Amino acid sequence: MTIAIHVKDLTRRFGDLVAVDQISFDIEQGEIFGLLGPNGAGKTTTLSMLSTTLEPTSGTATVMGIDISKDQDGVRKAIGIVFQDQSLDEELTAWENMDFHGRLYRIPKEIRLQRIDELLKLVELTDRRKDIVKTFSGGMRRRLEIARGLLHHPAVLFLDEPTLGLDPQTRNHLWEYIETLAREKNITIILTTHYMEEADRLCNRIAIIDHGKIIALDTPARLKDSIGGDVVTIQSTDTARITTVLAAPWINRMETHDSEVILSLKNAEQHLSTIVTRLNEEKIPITSISVHKPTLEDVFLSFTGKTIREQDMNKRDSMRMHFRMMRH
Ligand SMILES: Nc1ncnc2c1ncn2[C@@H]1O[C@H](COP(=O)(O)OP(=O)(O)OP(=O)(O)O)[C@@H](O)[C@H]1O
Ligand SMILES: [Mg+2]
Repeated sequence: MTIAIHVKDLTRRFGDLVAVDQISFDIEQGEIFGLLGPNGAGKTTTLSMLSTTLEPTSGTATVMGIDISKDQDGVRKAIGIVFQDQSLDEELTAWENMDFHGRLYRIPKEIRLQRIDELLKLVELTDRRKDIVKTFSGGMRRRLEIARGLLHHPAVLFLDEPTLGLDPQTRNHLWEYIETLAREKNITIILTTHYMEEADRLCNRIAIIDHGKIIALDTPARLKDSIGGDVVTIQSTDTARITTVLAAPWINRMETHDSEVILSLKNAEQHLSTIVTRLNEEKIPITSISVHKPTLEDVFLSFTGKTIREQDMNKRDSMRMHFRMMRH
């Protein structure tokens, strides 16, 4: 297996703030690799360093074997970038945006024209190619940006929050393009997202990043396995007593968040009646009880959850986090 991206102790400070804090990882060629984390975690800063638009404070990285600090032009030729802030020219047509980019990369005319046609077809914008971008929906713009990012046939594609703000249907559509690219063209994709579902569906491996640090890195399946089985959420006005009453060897994890106790256990359905009986015996009020298979949301909560966050997150941030997580 060829290593497409190699990152070692990469760090970026902005004054006193350590936005990216000694992160290390390798990405294999053809892999879809996700950086998953909340606002301000350091995702865009990481991509900016890897795409040579921002210099690291310390640490090293290579993209397709090219050092990001030593050969920025070389790296830029090897990569395609679709960043968070969109950068299409509103007054140009879809085709003109593509052509302009192709000229920037000095792609010879004949090849350029052929690829523009191919890529507009891939993202299903052929019939809109003569329309100016101003008239495009968010999803169409995103698709055009991805097509443009692929024009010079990069070996690695950087996608910063590729589906941010898109409706579920458009998001699904984009996921399909991204999967096709990795599978059929063997393009390595590194993407950032705060949508758990997106990371789960798309990525071969995920690095969960928080406050500039990688706190977990694995396949979605193994990350979900790591929290210890099915998730049982018990809402109650007496969470403190629940944790004492339920302490049992078959419970692999027990956390309290506000008025909820969250348990992880294997084969939850076999233990549910025992749990309810025990709580009833102790006359502990249960507002609700629910069971689900672990998701990346659970992993995220488990790793970055309130026990870590309560200390340094102001209320507004924690409300927003909660809201973001509740939406899925
Ligand atoms: N140019 C800059 N100057 C100062 N601070 C910055 C700069 N760029 C980023 N930061 C800070 O670095 C931290 C990481 O920012 P970054 O944009 O990488 O986060 P992110 O994970 O991409 O967040 P989001 O999900 O909101 O896009 C934040 O605290 C941010 O305020
Ligand atoms: Mg960002």
